[in-house]
Amino acid sequence: MHRADFKPDFPTETISEGKVKVVVPKLKAYRNMPCDYAPSKAPVFYNPVMELNRDLAVLVLQGYQKLVSRELRICEPLTASGLRGIRFAAEVEGTEKVVMGDINERAFKLAEHNIAFNNLTGKVEVKNKEANYLLSSYSAPHKRFDCVDIDPFGSPVHFLDSAVRALRDGGLLAVTATDMAPLCGVHPRACIRKYGGKPLRAEYCHELAVRLVAGGLATTAAKYDMGISVIFAHQAEHYARVYATIKHGARHADESLKNMGYILHCFKCFNRETVRGLYPLRINEECSECGSKLNLGGPMWVGKLFDPQFCGLMRDDVSHRRLRLGKRIEKMLALAESEADAPVSYFVIDKLCDAMSLPVPSVKEVAQAVKHKGFEAYLTIFHTRGIKSELPVSEMKEIVRMLASIANRS
Ligand SMILES: C[S@@+](CC[C@H](N)C(=O)[O-])C[C@H]1O[C@@H](n2cnc3c(N)ncnc32)[C@H](O)[C@@H]1O
Ligand SMILES: [Zn+2]
Repeated sequence: MHRADFKPDFPTETISEGKVKVVVPKLKAYRNMPCDYAPSKAPVFYNPVMELNRDLAVLVLQGYQKLVSRELRICEPLTASGLRGIRFAAEVEGTEKVVMGDINERAFKLAEHNIAFNNLTGKVEVKNKEANYLLSSYSAPHKRFDCVDIDPFGSPVHFLDSAVRALRDGGLLAVTATDMAPLCGVHPRACIRKYGGKPLRAEYCHELAVRLVAGGLATTAAKYDMGISVIFAHQAEHYARVYATIKHGARHADESLKNMGYILHCFKCFNRETVRGLYPLRINEECSECGSKLNLGGPMWVGKLFDPQFCGLMRDDVSHRRLRLGKRIEKMLALAESEADAPVSYFVIDKLCDAMSLPVPSVKEVAQAVKHKGFEAYLTIFHTRGIKSELPVSEMKEIVRMLASIANRS
């Protein structure tokens, strides 16, 4: 049902995503110059590129609902057009209620219209409130949500405290960070300020971005005697995304902090080492492979990023849904499931070959050769040309050299 009195004062269009149809700003009207980023220029934010992010959010919430077997109360306090929260209500079976919010009055009105447009009045409500204010009003023990989805402009850190406080014991928190420049080491001081960890401008910075966000989440939750378990994470386009369940109790917080640690990276030979613990007794700053000075990244989350059973549950679900990006998502989930036990960081084969002026072999060939040496080799969700392995970098280079000489001979 349309609200007859809904008359936006800006150009709009109706789009469909997942199972819903919503009215969003007409982005074409806000792209006057090629460099214009239309989603942010429009009076209400809408980014079609985030469909993947929203699809995965639906799948994670559905997986979580199946695991906990109870009706979900979900909060999306930075909703813009309402698309994400409306999708939760329409597509996640077992959703009891979705509370959405936005500080922007035009977004609030558009979201209100979209709720009615999808016949979800009652099941979904939207408030024209500041996100921390909204979340705080649900922080009392029996008012808390099962799931909170934080999808802001830039960094989510401004909302993490109120988000964890508005989650029930065992609840699920989803967090997007679009401040990739700090997280990938372009602005290291901003990253240290926001996430409490130093980034590294290494070839595996996309994974580190996710780990820095998860680290910020773990230390925020620990302040309130809560521990986190990361169940799924990914990085795409301009953002990092982390999904974690939260358990109340100082013991859980202490256990969770054991997953914090540091990465030591050698920019000369590509060697990297992981040191676990927030306060490790000794950090060796000399590269064990080439003797150069190692660069320190962290503290950040060096624990698991994927729960393989949970990823499997999501993968079973994708095939039953008609998602435009279904095939891509299936591949992502298969990778996530298979790399659950992989070490932190990956080698980017092209980068190794570039440094050694060698032709680039296929990732599969390198993975086979690594296995031949008796080591595990994992492809990764974070990079199409990445390989995770405990194999020392010198042996990885040997493999690349050997494959290049075979290619030269044939
Ligand atoms: C990136 S957009 C959200 C996109 C949306 N989640 C989606 O999937 O389409 C961020 C939204 O947060 C709103 N916002 C920014 N700061 C806020 C705050 N402090 N409280 C509430 N809303 C806020 C903005 O108005 C904007 O609509
Ligand atoms: Zn080195």
